[in-house]
Amino acid sequence: MEPATFVLFGATGDLAKRKIYPALYQLYIDQKLPSSFSFIGLGRRELTHTSFQANVEKSLLTFSRSDVKDAVRIKKFLNSFQYHVLDVDRKEDYTKLLKLVEDREAELNIMPNRMFYLSVGPEFFETIATNIHESGLGSASGWKRLVIEKPFGHDLESARQLNHTLNQAFDESDIYRIDHYLGKPMVQQMGQLLQSTLTEQDLRTRTIASVQISAIETLGVEERAGYYDHAGAIRDMFQNHMLQLLMMLTIEFPKRSSADEVVNLKSKIMKSLMPLNKIDVTQHVVRGQYASGVIKEEQVVGYTDEAGIALGSHNDTFIAARLRVDDPFWKDTPIYIRTGKRLKEKVTRIVIEFTSEGPVKDLLTIEIGPDEGITFLKSRSDLAFSDVETSLRSQLSFTKKEVNVKDAYETLIHDALLGDKTYFAHWNEVELSWEWVQPILDAYQDNLIPLHIYPAGTYGPQEANELLMKDGFHWWFDNRNASDNDATKGEFNIYEYTN
Ligand SMILES: NC(=O)c1ccc[n+]([C@@H]2O[C@H](COP(=O)([O-])OP(=O)(O)OC[C@H]3O[C@@H](n4cnc5c(N)ncnc54)[C@H](OP(=O)(O)O)[C@@H]3O)[C@@H](O)[C@H]2O)c1
Repeated sequence: MEPATFVLFGATGDLAKRKIYPALYQLYIDQKLPSSFSFIGLGRRELTHTSFQANVEKSLLTFSRSDVKDAVRIKKFLNSFQYHVLDVDRKEDYTKLLKLVEDREAELNIMPNRMFYLSVGPEFFETIATNIHESGLGSASGWKRLVIEKPFGHDLESARQLNHTLNQAFDESDIYRIDHYLGKPMVQQMGQLLQSTLTEQDLRTRTIASVQISAIETLGVEERAGYYDHAGAIRDMFQNHMLQLLMMLTIEFPKRSSADEVVNLKSKIMKSLMPLNKIDVTQHVVRGQYASGVIKEEQVVGYTDEAGIALGSHNDTFIAARLRVDDPFWKDTPIYIRTGKRLKEKVTRIVIEFTSEGPVKDLLTIEIGPDEGITFLKSRSDLAFSDVETSLRSQLSFTKKEVNVKDAYETLIHDALLGDKTYFAHWNEVELSWEWVQPILDAYQDNLIPLHIYPAGTYGPQEANELLMKDGFHWWFDNRNASDNDATKGEFNIYEYTN
């Protein structure tokens, strides 16, 4: 890997502490950082290099998944770290930053390869990119890369505007849009595992009846009320993570694609999504918001009683949608997506249901989090939740429990340092996602679609069940009849590790 400088905007923030420093430390331990590496953290706070390094060390002690007892090793890692005060609006700060970057490059004998990581609020993205360009920070002879966190725009128009501004300073090939779902090990391995689970024969003889993609959680808005009340589930999860999962899954059928093809195939799928118009959004989309309820035996307040949420807010904390892909392979298969907060359990899972007569159904489940696994199983559709009879091909199934799983940020930061964009969101995909979602945003805005209130600790509004029932399906594995305890234990008793 080429020597490089990593410039982090937002070095004193939450994401840096919880994800970026632990990921860099893990890469260091795994010898996946460049041999010559300069890290420059930026923020408005006045910190010395030493106090900054102490803060980074503290974050490793709290969040690293590896042993942080080796003081010598940590010290060596932290030696690469420096801090610089920068206010994103002050042009002179960028001039000083350039000098610091160049001095470190000379001192450490590093070519001017520079990665600029924006771990700051989205309102700063355009200013920072423009100032990097104008200050000359981005004009050196080495490579330059811009790594950018979500949210990428607030709607179609603002996303286009943001992209236009970024493109004045960085080419699309230099922009790495993080969608951390794309860094999850199971999302990346899904194609390969599906290939070993489903033979061509399977695909010829089986028809996929439906696909369900769920990413549900028990948490409420927590500390993010200010952001979330303007974003909702649709912008926070659906437009980016959920549609990325849909793209990653659908491009694996009917045939595994190569990494090079990923961007094109994903865009192709997004272009084939049957568009909604805002008048009939209500037939395909369910909007919800949580009321008070009980989760894991604890009483929790409703959304509008959360601190920082506007009184009488109409914001969505749940969305379920039915999508259709208009291409030869997927045209007869409805795809259901749902995501929401304050639900009964935390899980991210894809269920592929195959066509079969009678109540016993063949299902392929892809468990993405918190545990990971892929299993082909039979289940009875007339039961309220999975009562698995047998695992059809248990030798091909596996689960890994959530212990020391590689974090998505490790993979994504490593890929960005290598210049591998396979698992980053390309502008084409982002724009097409906003295009598809925009009529829903318009329908929300004009109140053309009801806001269904659901009790916390359930699986969302009843209308989300009816969306599937109309088509003869139901959400698999919703453990409605079990106690909260049972639900959190999980229903996947057959998910034993078998290889
Ligand atoms: N936290 C997460 O889990 C998470 C997950 C996904 C995406 N994200 C995205 O990641 C980004 C960062 O989130 P975060 O949670 O880390 O935010 P945060 O804790 O509020 O941190 C914001 C950072 O921005 C810096 N900053 C604020 N105003 C600045 C200014 N005028 N000039 C220079 N620096 C400034 C702050 O440093 P000073 O106060 O020292 O200036 C701080 O380091 C956001 O885009 C967020 O949407 C976060």
